[in-house]
Amino acid sequence: MSLRALIDNERVPKHIAIIMDGNGRWAQEQGQDRLFGHFHGVASVRDIVEGSAELGVKYLTLYAFSTENWDRPEQEVTGLMELLVETIRKEVPILNKNNIRLHVIGELGMLPDHATIALQEAFDLTAQNTGLNLVLALSYSSRWELVSAVKKIAEDVKTDKLDPSAITQDTLQQYLSTSEFPDPELMIRTSGEYRISNFLLYQLAYAELYFTQTRWPDFRKENLYEAILDFQKRERRFGKTSSQIIEGLTNN
Ligand code: FPP
Repeated sequence: MSLRALIDNERVPKHIAIIMDGNGRWAQEQGQDRLFGHFHGVASVRDIVEGSAELGVKYLTLYAFSTENWDRPEQEVTGLMELLVETIRKEVPILNKNNIRLHVIGELGMLPDHATIALQEAFDLTAQNTGLNLVLALSYSSRWELVSAVKKIAEDVKTDKLDPSAITQDTLQQYLSTSEFPDPELMIRTSGEYRISNFLLYQLAYAELYFTQTRWPDFRKENLYEAILDFQKRERRFGKTSSQIIEGLTNN
């Protein structure tokens, strides 16, 4: 039986977040430049976006470029930006054909102008789509996001728009760049690193974490199915006991 057929369609995670890691190592293992790995990583992005849409995943967040990635060698940063812009421009018709809406989270003011323009065009052109929401984390880091949220909250308190005693977890959630999206239920990291690397630290509080040795340029739908099957085997307790969870299931 194929892995796809083993997936319980009723329990597919609504939101999957992925740290696409290992492009550089994949390229270097083949005696190639790191950019060669990023270039091949685009094929994985296409396959995983398509696979997620087919499974009915509603939100897919991809960590494409972190705030810390700006410190990489200039040639790699410029090459990555060009690849991102070119890919986004080229993929818009395919996103539309598949009813996929593009979103971006991150410190967008850091991006070069041509990238901001390409992104704005892609948002406008896909804004009516109602299927998968593809969220690119670009120039993103969780600590940047949390500091930005705290600044906005402080500003609203100062201007009497917000009462500090009324601040709840939901209030903080509304000030994050992910305010429109539910929290990820499954976070996948490729390439054998066991870290979160400043990615969605607040939102991943109850996510199931899945780590695989597969390098991102080799990651395909079958690998996504493996991760989802692993997720479906887990018992998500949200701080409760196992018997409380089983009772809740039998009472429903
Ligand atoms: C991490 O591998 C990957 C990145 C920093 C960039 C990811 C970008 C792409 C896959 C290109 C296109 C993306 C989109 C969304 C169009 P790494 O360079 O850190 O690898 P290493 O850990 O082996 O050095």
